[in-house]
Amino acid sequence: MLKLSTPQPAYHPAPTVYAQSLAYLIFERPSLIEAEHFFVDFGLQVAFQTEHEIYFRSTDKEPYCYRIIRGKQARFIGFGLTVESFSDLEKLTQLESASEIESVLGFGGGQRVKLSDPSGFTVEAVWGRQLVEPLPHRAALVVNQGEIHTRINNTQRPAIEPPQVLRLGHVVLEVADFQETCAWYTQHFGFIPSDVQVLPDGSPAVAFLRLNLGDTPADHHTLALAQGFMPCYSHSAFEVIDADAVGMGQRMLRERGWKHAWGIGRHILGSQIFDYWEDPWGDKHEHYCDGDLFTADVPTGIHDVNRAAMSQWGQQMPNSFTKPKLTASNIAGLVHNLRHSPDLSFRKLITLAKLFG
Ligand SMILES: [Fe+2]
Repeated sequence: MLKLSTPQPAYHPAPTVYAQSLAYLIFERPSLIEAEHFFVDFGLQVAFQTEHEIYFRSTDKEPYCYRIIRGKQARFIGFGLTVESFSDLEKLTQLESASEIESVLGFGGGQRVKLSDPSGFTVEAVWGRQLVEPLPHRAALVVNQGEIHTRINNTQRPAIEPPQVLRLGHVVLEVADFQETCAWYTQHFGFIPSDVQVLPDGSPAVAFLRLNLGDTPADHHTLALAQGFMPCYSHSAFEVIDADAVGMGQRMLRERGWKHAWGIGRHILGSQIFDYWEDPWGDKHEHYCDGDLFTADVPTGIHDVNRAAMSQWGQQMPNSFTKPKLTASNIAGLVHNLRHSPDLSFRKLITLAKLFG
């Protein structure tokens, strides 16, 4: 039987707070116009815009799920997690990296505490955002399944347009200090490891973490952390209504000239039907549907990690999907982290390179 050889990831019985949802992602980009081109084709809608920032929304009631600040670099900054109450914000101010509670003066409103996780990603704990009217979206198609035929004298003709994104689903990050970063999220935000993929020595390669919402079903993962050699964004995922929306997304993005990353297929851990696309800066964004939902009592699963374990069917994960960007600063970071991170060794670098290189 497979066993985890490290203390993390682990369920924490009494975390500082229980995060309630992934509210938004925050990026810095050199061009808001290029960002708008991609994300409108991807199926998000512009919610608010200034000369310096652009906010995109899905069809749900959240004011926005994607915030881009115009800047010199193209980089991922971090994300927002909603919490249940003002007193949760107060509890979080006690953490080492925390700001005071501040009112959000810009779009979306609410109050927040800014934190930095052990890998240096910004985490904004937010409460009291101003919810908005949901936008209409097409209903799931009525499908004839095997012996159950519910669509008679009618055809399938979904609209030929970008699929409407229903909500932000999850974000996946690579980190060098895996143990410490994982512990921070389980201990302070109550994340539960749904499934962990381990290397042959039992050390974790990927942890899929879900929200602890008690008996309310939560996505199989809202945050996933992968063992890497430097902290970086892997991808984010956005839910669409059904498999035809995933397929229509592929058609629209292909026809409009965007770069495909991986798909269509069905994941094993999480079960989503997926398709991944690169934004203008080479960062991956996933359309998905039909993901698993777990209540808090489902135990953690431990699994082997390899390329074949990434999907049940469809295109196998291409080499390009996990290839790091080998810039001078990335190589310097790699050398530094190989020396200083307790989770890294040259041997692990070779193992990961063999598995995914
Ligand atoms: Fe994903």
